Amino acid sequence: MASLPLSSIPLLFLLLIPTITADPDALQDFCVADTKSSTTFFNGLPCLNPSEVTGKHFTTSVLNKPANTSGNPFLYGVTITSPQALPGINTMGIALARVDVEKGGQVPAHTHPRADEYVCIMEGTFNGGFVDSNNNYYSQTVKAGDVFVFPRGTIHFLQNIHDGHGYMLAGFNSQNPGLAVTPLQTFASNPAVPPLAQAFQISEKDVRKIRKKLGGSGG
Ligand SMILES: *[C@@H]1O[C@H](CO)[C@@H](O)[C@H](O)[C@H]1NC(C)=O
Repeated sequence: MASLPLSSIPLLFLLLIPTITADPDALQDFCVADTKSSTTFFNGLPCLNPSEVTGKHFTTSVLNKPANTSGNPFLYGVTITSPQALPGINTMGIALARVDVEKGGQVPAHTHPRADEYVCIMEGTFNGGFVDSNNNYYSQTVKAGDVFVFPRGTIHFLQNIHDGHGYMLAGFNSQNPGLAVTPLQTFASNPAVPPLAQAFQISEKDVRKIRKKLGGSGG
């Protein structure tokens, strides 16, 4: 067998990347989630018997009303087309979320560990941005009809700067993008992340104060 020239190795890695960064491809036309199964655990959700599948498994109305923002300290709420809400989406590698933000609120700095995201502003005006892994900050003001894309894993936010309620639709290339809200992940973990004071160059008292405000228990 002829050996590959060394120069072709980087190309091989590039060719492999799409197969290792997206959700795995579906192995059948569909795999409607059996959302009641409590006995089988694996990557994704098990499939309903195709003979039990109907049209209603492929539609949902969960996005037709505002997400619940009450009680949220940042004044936002999210509803996502999870496989529980939309069983037909199981294994498709996509999801759509509706994000409502009250006047003066924001979707605070957060990351999605498993998905790139595009956001289409439906109502209002938002100041948005993300920070890449070299700490470069990219920001734009976006208004109704505008789209902002956020690369997977980058810290990003959207602040409502419009004089009223606003909302957006956010699409993901994962059925389960994950949502890690940076201030909560950092200062409201249970138990506390020990060396936060040094990491943020603040006092232990400040750490306790922030943790208390953000709802971290103990420490
Ligand atoms: C909205 O969220 C609040 C706080 O979590 C909760 O008390 C309330 O029941 C929710 N309302 C609806 C309609 O789900």
